Amino acid sequence: MATSPSDTSKRGGLLRWLEERFPIQLFIDTQLTGYYAPKNLNRLYYFGVMALVLLVVQFTTGIFLAMSYKPGEATAFDSVQYIMREVEWGWLIRYAHSTGASFFFIVIYLHMFRALLYGSYKAPRELLWLFGMLLYLSLMAEAFLGYVLPWGNMSYWGAQVIVNLFSTIPGIGPGLAEWIRGDYVIADATLNRFFSLHVVAIPIGLLLLVTLHLTALRTAGSNNPDGIEKGPEESIPYHPYYVVADVVAVALFLVVFAIVVFFAPTFGGLFLEDANFEPANPLSTPEHITPVWYFTPYYAILRAIPDPRFGALLTLLAVASFLFLPWLDRSPVRSMRYKGWPSRIALAAFVTSFIALGYLGLQPAPRTYVVLARAFTVVYFAFFWLMPVYSRIGTASVRINPPTAPAA
Ligand code: HEM
Repeated sequence: MATSPSDTSKRGGLLRWLEERFPIQLFIDTQLTGYYAPKNLNRLYYFGVMALVLLVVQFTTGIFLAMSYKPGEATAFDSVQYIMREVEWGWLIRYAHSTGASFFFIVIYLHMFRALLYGSYKAPRELLWLFGMLLYLSLMAEAFLGYVLPWGNMSYWGAQVIVNLFSTIPGIGPGLAEWIRGDYVIADATLNRFFSLHVVAIPIGLLLLVTLHLTALRTAGSNNPDGIEKGPEESIPYHPYYVVADVVAVALFLVVFAIVVFFAPTFGGLFLEDANFEPANPLSTPEHITPVWYFTPYYAILRAIPDPRFGALLTLLAVASFLFLPWLDRSPVRSMRYKGWPSRIALAAFVTSFIALGYLGLQPAPRTYVVLARAFTVVYFAFFWLMPVYSRIGTASVRINPPTAPAA
């Protein structure tokens, strides 16, 4: 007689020994073979698992980097050179970590785009979305802190710009900026605390948030490209079907990742900027200060506004606007497949404005570029704050929840 998957009483050996002490079979039954996901998930659904893989890449390479990196004004830059030239495989570990950061953001932006496309932030997945947003904010903090550590000239001046944003807060601003720096200027104390936050505090937060994100995902279940909840007949077990598909996708992804790490680790100055190959110099400002590409859409918004205080506020709002999406979207359907043309045009305009702002943020800021950045800033905010109006227009009539079985 066949043994049912959860019937461990007939099993011997290691699995039974484990099962009596730890609910391993229960985990397999509820989270892998017995977890049903919609049949129609497409390639955009690979980016979640890729984010998990990158988290592992960043943690592993980060641990090895921390073995030879020495925080401190006098030692940081040289210790990174030492890693690159003297530590065995040090160049590979460092380039995998720096390329990993950029790939993380590529993957996360595509992961977020999928959620915008299929309305995955809408009920009942609001908390899943909010945990995702907290992950995004923590990733931004993690990337910024990490970028300061090599103590190159762009690290120094980038930190200067970001910490100065805090000093624009009325009243408490200057005191807060000094508290963050631990000094009157960006200095040794700043570098040491940024190191501690980058390797201990934020990674712990990331692990916790990933756990909450995935728990919320498994509670509400995956959405799908139709945005219509799927019944059991339209779902398949996560293992083996999606596990096998994920393994193939991750293998291909790692090939692309390796090509960049080995052949184009700075990606033409986009992943590692030229100015960061010079040591930090408080007396020499780089010709034009730009953050790494994944922050440049927000940086373009900051630079487009002449008043620094208002600019800082708008930059903060640009990031925070994502938090409100589950409540701004009033469409009765989730997926763009069934939304009306105003929602489709709005999403296309938003993506265009995000990419355009990202490009403008990387360039010096002549007058025409500033005017363009202002125009795209308007489009960016219109996407969010006009959503309660346009999301109601032109929706196809579909049912987003499956019909419930009639009571017996
Ligand atoms: C460290 C960062 C992150 C990791 C490791 C991660 C991981 C995952 C995984 C494994 C899934 C299931 C597979 C998939 O649907 O792609 C998922 C789903 C999801 N994630 Fe993330 N995620 C991260 C960040 C984010 C961010 C920043 C957001 C948005 C702000 C987000 C929003 C979502 C949503 C809405 C879903 C459900 C999508 C659906 O079912 O249609 N995640 N995430």
